[in-house]
Amino acid sequence: MKYKLNQNQTPLFTAMKEYRDRQVTPFDVPGHKHGRGLKEYKDYFGDAMLELDVNSMKPLDFLGNPTSVIKESEELLADAFGGDRGFFIINGTSFAVQTMIMSVVKHGEKIILPRNVHKSVINALVLSGALPVYMKPEMDSEMGVSHNVTLKALKKAYEQNPDSKAALFINPTYYGAAGDLRSLVKFCRDRGIYSLVDEAHGTHFHFHPDLPVSGMEAGADFSAVSLHKTGGSLTQSSALIINTERIGGQYVRRFINLMQTTSPSYLLMGSVDVARKQLALHGKEMLDEVLALSHCARSGINSIKGVYSMGPEAVGRPGVYHFDPTKLSITMRNLGINGMELYDRLRDEYNIQMETGDVYSSLAILSLGDSMESVDHLIRSIEDIKQRYGKNHRLEYDKIDLNYPDVVLTPREAFYGEKERVSLSDSLGRISGETIMSYPPGIPVVGYGERITESVIEQILLFKSSHGIITGMDDPEVSHLKVLKAPVLKKRR
Ligand SMILES: Cc1ncc(COP(=O)(O)O)c(C=O)c1O
Repeated sequence: MKYKLNQNQTPLFTAMKEYRDRQVTPFDVPGHKHGRGLKEYKDYFGDAMLELDVNSMKPLDFLGNPTSVIKESEELLADAFGGDRGFFIINGTSFAVQTMIMSVVKHGEKIILPRNVHKSVINALVLSGALPVYMKPEMDSEMGVSHNVTLKALKKAYEQNPDSKAALFINPTYYGAAGDLRSLVKFCRDRGIYSLVDEAHGTHFHFHPDLPVSGMEAGADFSAVSLHKTGGSLTQSSALIINTERIGGQYVRRFINLMQTTSPSYLLMGSVDVARKQLALHGKEMLDEVLALSHCARSGINSIKGVYSMGPEAVGRPGVYHFDPTKLSITMRNLGINGMELYDRLRDEYNIQMETGDVYSSLAILSLGDSMESVDHLIRSIEDIKQRYGKNHRLEYDKIDLNYPDVVLTPREAFYGEKERVSLSDSLGRISGETIMSYPPGIPVVGYGERITESVIEQILLFKSSHGIITGMDDPEVSHLKVLKAPVLKKRR
């Protein structure tokens, strides 16, 4: 891959190592003073980590207004991902997503979105007061998941809302479905609306030609890349990449500085610097291996009768224009085992932590640190689960309809609206004052301002009975919901 800059450099990480070598006497915060005030932690994690858990200072630059080593590292980051500007984000990709949305839509302005967005998108709408125009993603009833959106869905949403200012796309979905991003982005560009890409699960795309096209390659204006998910950096570190003539980097920085801490973790930022270098210089060959492993894992799992792992054959199904093979979804619904049971059994009985468990499937993510040994362990465990727990009936949750509930109020109106607590069964037909999701993946079952349907209640009950993790509800017992007080203020559309 051709870069403009020398990707072998790590300006921030190098400055961090130099700082440590100087053995500075710290009279600044953090108060643990290079770990001496937190001995148990230092003894466990080692000297380097605690000695580099430091505050901002001239030799290490300032994230809010970088002028030296962070600035240089951010330039390398942008160059590696094919963008014009890059920003270190240390509050997760949620924050990168929120920043890009708030940079392009203000209160009352419309943004086109797939409904299967992560909750950070809905939260950005609460913060900004922007109005969602949802595109319905394509549903896969066999897998029990939603895939990506089509150009047709975008056209329809835009034609009905030509005053929209921006559109956001997911690249790829949690389960690996990528849309026709080039065409989606072009559609936006031709109409002068911003294109934003949530690439929380597609950080690696930019570094391998066989993977779906990345946001920047497709010509998008913004891309939120979750370096900590599949790029190798530490949890919570992330990046925002932009390439647009219409919005200046300093304008975007204003939104970052509005909400981001003034005490960013150097351990997180340094890990982005090193992960970026690794991806830029060795991403292709490392991903060659990940792809080979993914292939072995998928064929091993698909050779077990009754078990299915969706793969590249899904390309061409509605909402699957391209597929990311490193997303290894496994469904045992034909053997009467649901995705959450599979997720729990793998962890509790086989010491395997999957990424998520859903109605019919559980998802493994393969990435830079996997090995043939770990893949073998997974395949053998699936075989064993089949022998021990497989039944001869197929699961059919007929009450789970994959259609999303109607939007009645904007997320912000519902967030601030007057609410009352009602039992789950009494919530039918009411407007949700909460965003409720199983976590992961964090896609709302029902969002702020949406009408609660029978299917919403069924899904909550199903997650509850199968010990799925449900978040977003005030009630930890998951027996009551917060709904808007009737009568509803006004109907938006
Ligand atoms: C599609 C998508 N976008 C954004 C995020 C937020 O990422 P983070 O957990 O780094 O805040 C996630 C997290 O799972 C996600 O799945």
